[in-house]
Amino acid sequence: MKFFIDTANLEQIREAQDLGVLDGVTTNPSLMAKEGIKIKGEDNIKKHYLEICEIVDGDVSAEVIATDFDGMVCEGEELAALHPQITVKFPCTKEGIKAVKYFSEKGIKTNCTLVFSVGQALLAAKAGATYVSPFVGRLDDIASDGIALVKAIVDVYGYYGYATQVLAASIRHTQHIIQCLEAGADVATCPLSAILGLLKHPLTDSGLATFLADYKKVNG
Ligand code: E4P
Repeated sequence: MKFFIDTANLEQIREAQDLGVLDGVTTNPSLMAKEGIKIKGEDNIKKHYLEICEIVDGDVSAEVIATDFDGMVCEGEELAALHPQITVKFPCTKEGIKAVKYFSEKGIKTNCTLVFSVGQALLAAKAGATYVSPFVGRLDDIASDGIALVKAIVDVYGYYGYATQVLAASIRHTQHIIQCLEAGADVATCPLSAILGLLKHPLTDSGLATFLADYKKVNG
């Protein structure tokens, strides 16, 4: 399973990249706003995406703001032209699916986002999306089962041989990552804290402390 980091924060992206296990980045308008990046200030946002592409080697999802097909095409073309690592991200709406189809036919990578059902995932795959993003945490928030959706999409894509990769999004904690692995997700996009949580085990900490104490007994 590939690991993407779900942030627009350059420091966190650098920290995850330094760990040596990062495969890409996802952003969205809320994450950009959190970093104070103005989407209307063209140079501002373009510079930010380029900085992210310089830090990581893999795909970087950049989401459109437009909600109509023509606007999505215009914005998507500008984003895609920025850097070969840019994957253009469209919401799973009627216009968004049309835009995914348009860009996938041109060989431009797409991420179909805000997916909450197998039916939406089917449309994304049929439109040729590179990635489909089911939102795990947001489903859990409303007492639904986000991981069950990831598994259902993985199964259905497997039956029919769809090439679209299942990118589990809205990951809130470390256990979600493990559950995505078990569900067969192709990618999980996670906050840095959830990735670092994978390292944590009290037996690792106590085991290391014992090794170092024993070493000191003999070596001083
Ligand atoms: C990433 O592609 C999604 O936009 C993101 O994971 C959503 O996460 P949230 O539900 O925590 O906002």
